[in-house]
Amino acid sequence: MSYNIKKAEGKLGILIPGLGAVATTLIAGVESIKKGFAKPIGSLTQMGNIRLGKRTENRYPLVKDFVPLANLDDIVFGGWDVYADNVYEAAANAKVLEPAVLDQVKTELEAIKPLKAVFDSNYVKNLDGKHVKEETNKWDLAEATIKDIETFKSENNLDRVVIVWCASTEKYFEAGAVHQTIEAFEEGLRNNDPAIAPSMIYAYAAIKSGVPFANGAPNLTLDIPALQQFALERNVPIAGKDFKTGQTLMKTIVAPGLQARSLGVNGWFSTNILGNRDGLVLDDPENFKTKEVSKLGVLEQILNAEQNPELYGDLYHKVRINYYPPHGDNKESWDNIDIFGWLGYQMQIKINFLCKDSILAAPIVLDLALFMDLASRAEMSGIQEWLSFYFKTPQTAEGLPPEHDIFKQLIKLQNTLRHIMGEDLITHLGLDYYQELVESMS
Ligand SMILES: NC(=O)c1ccc[n+]([C@@H]2O[C@H](COP(=O)([O-])OP(=O)(O)OC[C@H]3O[C@@H](n4cnc5c(N)ncnc54)[C@H](O)[C@@H]3O)[C@@H](O)[C@H]2O)c1
Repeated sequence: MSYNIKKAEGKLGILIPGLGAVATTLIAGVESIKKGFAKPIGSLTQMGNIRLGKRTENRYPLVKDFVPLANLDDIVFGGWDVYADNVYEAAANAKVLEPAVLDQVKTELEAIKPLKAVFDSNYVKNLDGKHVKEETNKWDLAEATIKDIETFKSENNLDRVVIVWCASTEKYFEAGAVHQTIEAFEEGLRNNDPAIAPSMIYAYAAIKSGVPFANGAPNLTLDIPALQQFALERNVPIAGKDFKTGQTLMKTIVAPGLQARSLGVNGWFSTNILGNRDGLVLDDPENFKTKEVSKLGVLEQILNAEQNPELYGDLYHKVRINYYPPHGDNKESWDNIDIFGWLGYQMQIKINFLCKDSILAAPIVLDLALFMDLASRAEMSGIQEWLSFYFKTPQTAEGLPPEHDIFKQLIKLQNTLRHIMGEDLITHLGLDYYQELVESMS
């Protein structure tokens, strides 16, 4: 049985808190793709295929031809930032894309000017932008953000809007009493509770407006019962958190392979240098802590020392990030992996990844926006665990451990698409091929 999915008619607005390196690389990329100058490489929705039915049927449509997604030509971008630069200027400052690429879409990028941000320097110390909302009360800030969403929708004649958080990583903190119920949270907004972060105000405004919200940073944001409950009440999809790019992407590709072959791992040292504004923000220990927690979790779950103490019980896992301005957005990461095999013999794997963070992140933002819009039209509300594929710390229901293995995450995503479209799920058992053969021969 397939879901009753509303068609992707009309225009889709993608609103982004944080028009920095990732967001501007996405926007410039989509505008270039629309004009036929480039291809959406790295985007599963645009370039990925999905198998349907049996292998022998040879049905492998593109994902975008299988599920009803918004068309790139129907997307309108907007966003907020603490700096007033338009998207062309912000993209030029980010130095991810070359000037020649940006100039091809200069008019489109210059037209996107950020709205004033909800900002609190207690949560991000290393920024000093002045393009921030004047309201001092958090309830009023939420109301102003709701108004921004409404105005963006009506001015651009949009049918639907989704929000993907691409703003800086906020400092590390844990949920408290104000985050437990929506009533306590709303009371906290009115009382200007210091434990309500700016990202939570955007998320609250989104959910209240019926707008799906995905969190691309490792902030606490949606990981609180208050907003999860609110999303269910309002029938709004939410997903997070922290885009899975670079080193963690490699980790969740390599680790499942080692684990699958029952090879032991007793050391994994990961170090990074990066010089963009994200690196500057992460140079503050409180903000780094948020990222570190997000990055450390993946190996523990994939290798599962509790179930495999002989292979993974002694694992020493360390993650380091250093701010190094000369590299800009060209992050360089080194992984030293100490593994052991047959009879305990030691081996080493070295990975030196010269990656472009925003080039890896941009297609994730596009896919998340399109899939969150699809989820909304399919009336899927609350946590969208099937989008784990895109996150370092996938959001799951209370008490449910997240799945980090990228291949299992992909199967989950594809089976969710098959499920909502009424196609058979694929278990990869494959016995039926042989059964038919046997039967046809008898
Ligand atoms: N690039 C990646 O591969 C990657 C991977 C995972 C997560 N992330 C996360 O995505 C986010 C964006 O990364 P980036 O490289 O574009 O960083 P960036 O510093 O270039 O951009 C972030 C932007 O957010 C703005 N900002 C900060 N607080 C804000 C607020 N409260 N409201 C509105 N705007 C605000 C900043 O002024 C800046 O322009 C970061 O949190 C980063 O940790 C990035």
